[in-house]
Amino acid sequence: MEGAPSGGRSAAAPARMTTVSRHYFGGSTSESDHDLRVDIIENIEEDYGMFVWPCSVILAEYVWQQRSRFSGSRVVELGAGTSLPGLVAAKVGADVTLTDIAHNTEVLNNIRKICALNDANCTVLGLTWGDWDEPIFDLRPDIILGADVLYDSANFDNLFATVSFLLENSPGSVFITTYHNRSGHHLIEFLMVKWGLKCLKLLDGFSFLPSCKAASLQGNIQLVEIGLDKDNHK
Ligand SMILES: C[S@@+](CC[C@H](N)C(=O)[O-])C[C@H]1O[C@@H](n2cnc3c(N)ncnc32)[C@H](O)[C@@H]1O
Repeated sequence: MEGAPSGGRSAAAPARMTTVSRHYFGGSTSESDHDLRVDIIENIEEDYGMFVWPCSVILAEYVWQQRSRFSGSRVVELGAGTSLPGLVAAKVGADVTLTDIAHNTEVLNNIRKICALNDANCTVLGLTWGDWDEPIFDLRPDIILGADVLYDSANFDNLFATVSFLLENSPGSVFITTYHNRSGHHLIEFLMVKWGLKCLKLLDGFSFLPSCKAASLQGNIQLVEIGLDKDNHK
């Protein structure tokens, strides 16, 4: 998939190795002056869910900047992978459930290790988009997060089926996603109309990113807040 993982590694490491990347928030977001640090265990040779994609860095920064909104809220992250946005939400006081493909034990175990490493008390749950396993019916998030979850067109409808279900199951909730537009097509607008959803907010992902983070990232990345369109929801 085009669009390199985010970088941010603490030290150069040989390929094919598990590394720990450090992510800073607040202050000057530098190693020496920051308010929050989250450490992520990555393995660039493995599954898509085993490293930090640029969308995740951008969404995590957004969560940090909106931390008063997240504090005390219930958050579900879909396709969490290395879970940087969800971990920031947990660190600012949200009740967080981190999810990824139900059968992908490697990614789910890595999420558990990352939570332990950061002393973050999150629930980790296998949740495959478009599957209706029992735990999904108990989820009533205020905020659903998804970083770089729109990358395989074969899965778009499954993802939006899950998002629409959660939005309906939890009135007033919102889906906040960072979307790397690799094709140049307006996919997200099309999907929102198709699923009876509406755009509540649209931002250029780089518009709120500190320059020290923006310098190491590239791509056409948008942040979109999505809610149910009550007039058009089937
Ligand atoms: C491009 S990665 C993004 C990972 C992470 N959110 C980030 O931005 O660093 C896509 C993530 O979606 C997950 N995923 C893909 N298909 C899925 C599905 N059908 N159900 C649930 N998760 C899925 C992958 O396992 C992976 O963690």
